[in-house]
Amino acid sequence: MKIGIYGGTFDPPHLGHMAAARAALDALELDKLLFVPAAVPPHKALPEDAPSAEERLAMTAILADAMLRPDRVEADGLELERTGKSFSSDTVQALRARWPEDELWFLVGTDMFLSLQDWHEPETILSNCGIVAFARARDDRMEALERHAARLREKFGAKVRVIQIPDLVEISSTELRGLLAMGKGQEWLCPSVYGYILMHGLYGTHADLEHLDDADLRACSYSMMKAKRIRHVKGVEEEGVKLALHWGADPEKARKAGILHDCTKYWDLEKQLRTCEKYGIVLDDLERRAVKLLHAKTGAAIARYVFGMPEDVCEAIYWHTTGKGDMTLLDKILYMADYMEPGRDFEGVERLRELAYTDLDEAVLLGCEMSIQDMEERGQPIHYRTQEAYDQLRDRKRD
Ligand SMILES: [Fe+2]
Ligand SMILES: [Fe+2]
Repeated sequence: MKIGIYGGTFDPPHLGHMAAARAALDALELDKLLFVPAAVPPHKALPEDAPSAEERLAMTAILADAMLRPDRVEADGLELERTGKSFSSDTVQALRARWPEDELWFLVGTDMFLSLQDWHEPETILSNCGIVAFARARDDRMEALERHAARLREKFGAKVRVIQIPDLVEISSTELRGLLAMGKGQEWLCPSVYGYILMHGLYGTHADLEHLDDADLRACSYSMMKAKRIRHVKGVEEEGVKLALHWGADPEKARKAGILHDCTKYWDLEKQLRTCEKYGIVLDDLERRAVKLLHAKTGAAIARYVFGMPEDVCEAIYWHTTGKGDMTLLDKILYMADYMEPGRDFEGVERLRELAYTDLDEAVLLGCEMSIQDMEERGQPIHYRTQEAYDQLRDRKRD
């Protein structure tokens, strides 16, 4: 296996890191790429109000996930488990012990590359790993880089490659931190990393989470979920707005409900239960065990207490998974948008899409019926609220 090790402070991780990682994956045909944030960077002192190593690791994990290659790209917190300065030589040795037979490549930017011989125990790094230096396309230092590569090869017998990155993002973390403190710079970040920064108030951002614009609200919501879910959430937002315009509901409320509806989807059972307790959400027996049902309730609580959403938006989120009797128009819109957004593909979805724009109650009724059938087939208990919604809509139809 070929494994790339991409160390750094990642303060914050930005699109430049992503472009470099992508280039290394392709140029070296890596089977795996690890982002390894330094706990205590040996080369520089972090400012006092800098994010903690845990926060930098969390942001780096979000960036790694945003590359959408979860089987190949991930963030590794091994440097946070050691005390003292985070020397790359220690990391390389630890990873060599983890993968004794595999090909390791250490990825560095040009400045770090040019000073590599002055690092702590460079021979340990160079005897265990090949070195990949990133250069900008048409870098005027290309000659110097190649000369340096030749020197390392000669002195340490090192394996060195200089790769040019055509779309290298021209931003340094220092510049970016300055921009963030002035309320700018989000274009250099992937939205979910930016959302994490806003939610944690890092780098002098003082976002008022209860009054975010739609772009920032999306960023925050995406920062809490896996990147692969974002497409669905965008679909629900888009479909919800269309349905609201069609049926005369408030499209902006449908939009916000769509953006936030799955924001806690990836929380584990323990975090879901803790959140329910914190916000006084009463659970029945089935809900206590079914993590899938809980995200609707905790999502509604986060929408209300963190993002200051109005009551009807939170209600729609609360009921989006089970449905219930007497659903409001907004409840039905979110329920249906979640069911049949453009990315959904299952037998019967076309019928749902048609009904959602011709007879909304009939569409919800069919949605409930499909859910009940699905649960029966899987031998899982049916939530009484879904049954309630189904019975009520069916009875109304008969009258
Ligand atoms: Fe959901
Ligand atoms: Fe959803």
